[in-house]
Amino acid sequence: MRRAITIIILAALFIPISASVLSYAEEYVPKERNGYLTSIAHRGASAYAPENTMPAFTKGVEMGADYIEIDVQMSKDSIPIIIHDRTLNRTTNGKGKVSDYTLKELKLLDAGSWFGEEFTGETIPTLNEFLGEFGGKINILIELKYPELYPGIEEQVANVLKEHKLVKPDSIEIIIQSFNHESIKRSKELLPEIPHGVLVGKDWRRISSQQLEEFATYADYFNPSFNIVTAELVELVHLTNMTMYAYTVRDQSEAGRLYSLGVDGIITDYPDYVNLIVQK
Ligand code: G3P
Ligand code: CA
Repeated sequence: MRRAITIIILAALFIPISASVLSYAEEYVPKERNGYLTSIAHRGASAYAPENTMPAFTKGVEMGADYIEIDVQMSKDSIPIIIHDRTLNRTTNGKGKVSDYTLKELKLLDAGSWFGEEFTGETIPTLNEFLGEFGGKINILIELKYPELYPGIEEQVANVLKEHKLVKPDSIEIIIQSFNHESIKRSKELLPEIPHGVLVGKDWRRISSQQLEEFATYADYFNPSFNIVTAELVELVHLTNMTMYAYTVRDQSEAGRLYSLGVDGIITDYPDYVNLIVQK
């Protein structure tokens, strides 16, 4: 009954979704999720607060997201920090490469005012600070960002997780993902009990089942750009026993389309879009 109501709401909210997609949704409900759609607050609830800062993470929790996604790089003195771009230019009042600055120097920068005056004075969080605040309270999706620029980042992240006693599955889940699949293999060896994920972009549109099986030897999650998601891809990924969280959704009708196709979760700047679909 709840499923039927959801389908009706989807039809009303997302008129652009084609009839064929909806009829697929009626037939296909992955057993594992029973209609549930996991919401992952991308860089925190980054539509509402400056990405990858404490207010964005807090907002994600308040909005009922299941996970907070963070981008982890390293300071010049090898401290894992949370920031998306290779440079400081877009999201701080600093300039130049993240990797050229020590943590002490990075902490002097303002990472909030670019988004809104009320966020002035927010700083780039360290992974340690983030886990101190949110570890054990919400599921976390850690992206190793540009790990090729930071030799040893996998070990440094593993050490911080160990310090916070977060390396064994507990009531909350930690997932580590990256576009750099070699880095994920290394991380999986260091942290075998933590689920890992491969991120793939648009150029992976035509992926073979053989390649998916290869990923599944070390990854538990196959997380693609939403652009390449089809019902067939979802089915293939599930057949290899991987879970699929699609990124990055900034459009309500796209969230509806992905749900209809059977993805397990949506990585989004707007966690409220997922709440509308599954009525959390
Ligand atoms: O979690 C996946 C997504 O964050 C990957 O893209 O560029 O936003 O880190 P990006
Ligand atoms: Ca990311």
